[in-house]
Amino acid sequence: MSARLLDGKLISEQVLEETRRGVAEFTAKHGFAPGLAFVRVGEDPASVVYVGAKAKMCERLGIQGQTYVLPASAVEAQVLDLVASLNAQPRVHGILVQSPMPAGIREDVVFEAILPGKDVDGFHPLNLGKLAVGDPTAFVACTPAGVHQILLRGGIPLAGRRVVILGRSRIVGKPLALLLSGKGKGADATVTLAHSRTQDLPSVTREAEILIAAMGKNRFVTADMVREGAVVVDVGITRVPDPAKKSGARIEGDVDFIPVSQKASWITPVPGGVGPMTIAMLMANTLKAAKLQTA
Ligand SMILES: NC(=O)c1ccc[n+]([C@@H]2O[C@H](COP(=O)([O-])OP(=O)(O)OC[C@H]3O[C@@H](n4cnc5c(N)ncnc54)[C@H](OP(=O)(O)O)[C@@H]3O)[C@@H](O)[C@H]2O)c1
Repeated sequence: MSARLLDGKLISEQVLEETRRGVAEFTAKHGFAPGLAFVRVGEDPASVVYVGAKAKMCERLGIQGQTYVLPASAVEAQVLDLVASLNAQPRVHGILVQSPMPAGIREDVVFEAILPGKDVDGFHPLNLGKLAVGDPTAFVACTPAGVHQILLRGGIPLAGRRVVILGRSRIVGKPLALLLSGKGKGADATVTLAHSRTQDLPSVTREAEILIAAMGKNRFVTADMVREGAVVVDVGITRVPDPAKKSGARIEGDVDFIPVSQKASWITPVPGGVGPMTIAMLMANTLKAAKLQTA
C-alpha cells in the first residue's frame, strides 16, 4: 500500500480562513479586534523567529498582536509583573509567553500566572483539567488540537478505534490522549499512551489503527513497527545537520517516512504536516478567548 498524504498545510489554511472570517465578524460586532500579547524573554534565535511568525499571522487574520520583549537578564518577578499587567488589560484576550525562557525563570510558575481564560497556549493546569472533564471552555494546547483537526478534517474516523500515542509530554502526548479518548463526537477512541518506559514498544505500536509519534527521536518509527493500513501522524521535529541545505540543516520527523508510507493508509509529512496546524490553532484559540471574554 502507498499512503495518501494528510496535508497539514492545506488543512491549516481552512482553519485560518474560518478564523479570519470569525475575527472579522467579532471586530464588526465589538468595534475592536481580538488581542493577543506575546512575551519573549531574551533573544533566543528560534524564539525570535517563532514569535515573529505568530505576530505576522495575527496581522494576516486581523488579530491585534502585540509583542513585549524583556532582556535576557530579566528575573522571574519581572516576567510575572508583565503577565499581571496583561491579565488586567481588557483588550488583551490571549497571552503567550514564549518558551524557552532563560535559566532561573520557572516556566511552570509563569504559565500558571496567566489567567486561565487568556491561556491560549493551553498550558495552565486548569485548562488541562477542564480538558480532562470535557469542559468545552477548555483551551487545548495548540499542537494536540492541531493533530485532532488533521484527523477530523482528514475524514479519519476515531470512534472505537485503537490509537497509540508515542510520548506523554504535558504539551503534546497527554492532552492529545485526553482529546481523543473523550466522550462524544470526534473522539471516543481507545487510546494507549506509550513512553520511554513502555516495554516491547513495537508490539504496542503494531496494535495501532492510528499511530501518533511525538517523541523528538528522528526516524524512530520504522516500518516493522506499523500495522498494515494504519494512519500515521508525525509530530516530531528534529534538526539534522545537512551541508547540502542552505541553512545547514534539514528537519526530520519521528517517522521513517518512505518505508512507513509503503505500509500506512494515510500519513502526515514533515515538514508540512502537524507544524502548520500549531499556529493555526493558536489563532483559533485567540478568537475563542475573545468571544468567551465578551459573551
Ligand atoms: N509540530 C509542532 O508544532 C510541534 C510542537 C511541539 C512539539 N513538537 C515536536 O514533538 C516532539 C515531542 O515534543 P515534546 O515537547 O512532547 O517532547 P518531550 O517533552 O521531550 O517528550 C518526549 C516524550 O517522548 C517519550 N520518549 C522519548 N524517547 C522515547 C523512546 N525511545 N520510546 C518511547 N518514548 C520515548 C518521552 O518519554 P518519557 O516521558 O518516559 O521521558 C516523552 O514522554 C519534538 O520533536 C518536538 O520538537 C512539534
